[in-house]
Amino acid sequence: METRNKSSFTSSLGFILTAAGSAVGVGNIWRFPYLAAKDGGGLFLLVYLGLVLTFGFTLLTTDIAIGRRTGRNAWHAFGAIRPKWGFLGKLTFLVPAIIMTYYAVIGGWVLKYATVYLCGQRSQPAQDGYFIEFITSRVPPVVYLLVFLAITAFVVYSGVEKGIEKFSKVVMPILLLMIVGTAIYSLTLTHTDAHGVTRTGMQGLAVYLIPDFTGMTFSKFLNVLLDAMGQLFFSLSVSMGIMITYGSYVKKDVNLEKSIAQVEFFDTGVAFLAGMMIIPSIFVFSGTEGMAAGPSLMFQSLPKVFDSMGAAGTLVGATFFVMVLFAALTSCLSILETLVSTCMNIFHTDRKKVSLVIGVISAAAAVIVCLGYNVFYFEYTLPNGQTAQILDVLDYISNNFLMPLIAFLTAIFVGWVIKPQWITEEMEEQGAKFGKKRFYAVMVRWVVPVIMAILFLQSTGLLAKISTFIA
Ligand code: PHE
Repeated sequence: METRNKSSFTSSLGFILTAAGSAVGVGNIWRFPYLAAKDGGGLFLLVYLGLVLTFGFTLLTTDIAIGRRTGRNAWHAFGAIRPKWGFLGKLTFLVPAIIMTYYAVIGGWVLKYATVYLCGQRSQPAQDGYFIEFITSRVPPVVYLLVFLAITAFVVYSGVEKGIEKFSKVVMPILLLMIVGTAIYSLTLTHTDAHGVTRTGMQGLAVYLIPDFTGMTFSKFLNVLLDAMGQLFFSLSVSMGIMITYGSYVKKDVNLEKSIAQVEFFDTGVAFLAGMMIIPSIFVFSGTEGMAAGPSLMFQSLPKVFDSMGAAGTLVGATFFVMVLFAALTSCLSILETLVSTCMNIFHTDRKKVSLVIGVISAAAAVIVCLGYNVFYFEYTLPNGQTAQILDVLDYISNNFLMPLIAFLTAIFVGWVIKPQWITEEMEEQGAKFGKKRFYAVMVRWVVPVIMAILFLQSTGLLAKISTFIA
């Protein structure tokens, strides 16, 4: 049974921009800045950077090398190396299958906001209750999600070279320009509030960059570390089979170590710039309290900030949401592509048919998730204490439960079953140098499994139970 993927990226730049397209998503623009604001600014940045260069490097290298060496998607790759480990491929496939259902819903919300700003409105989205009213309404969020999904499915339908790679090559450089522009703009802001206090963008930058150690205890630091680790997974799109699929499209003459470093640099750079754009602007208009907004930052706090900017706010808001839209589209593409590519191999059918079928199934699932805010509304308490609807439950299962578990099992598989050498050989293909060979081996055998086990126990709420039991 031939299950090797036949498509390939046309160049190493194409690969880098496409992989960066998957990695750069709402996670970078929305999640990273609010975690940085919550976790002591510069401190979080330092911790995150440390993790990217160690864990990020190891996990991304593992996924991409497995993909290129086997030429297969996760579903078939693990079993092709060791038949007994085939289960890990199926488990990995679950993650994009779950994420697909809710990522399109968020994509729809972003599309709605981009449309509103492009139509020149900025005061409406700044009203209290605007966001909740939108997501709990029945028809509009469904319409936006279907449009978002249709664009994604069309690009996947067009193929790897002519669809995904081409789209990413156009969109990613534009995104980079937009984010640099808005980040610089937000540093130039100044505002005097009702109490006569003037705050500037540069002061906001200091809040973002200077590590804040006030009230820092060991357990708080551990929390910062875990936040940063969770963010890293989501942000780099690792341990969910996506980078295995993309790895399978990379030609043998591409230097993997270099390309991987570039993808990490791109992903971290965009996250860093997003913080530089968002934190100073929130600081200027609402001070440090404004930063505690958490997840609602993007759809509720930022529209208020854009409104306070006056006429310029419409343009900045439109630029911002178009940027998030591009980021969300290229990420959603990578999820859908993984599903489509895998099903093409399972059912031995062509891309066009599979894209249509998976597109329709995803749309149906996404509509159910979307209606989780009205027709199917419920309140469920997650192990971390957060109240959740369908979307949050799915997000929790994929990010907090499956991803650390898969990273743990993959590290055991590579470190102890097939041995790091198996990856190293792929990295050194065609005489390429793999400078961090030793470091990689130590990380994948020892460090990753231990830390992933802790992360898994923590995010499933088991760690808290164990520690109260011991204490
Ligand atoms: N990495 C993307 C981000 O940072 C999210 C993503 C998750 C993309 C899962 C693909 C799959 O937003």
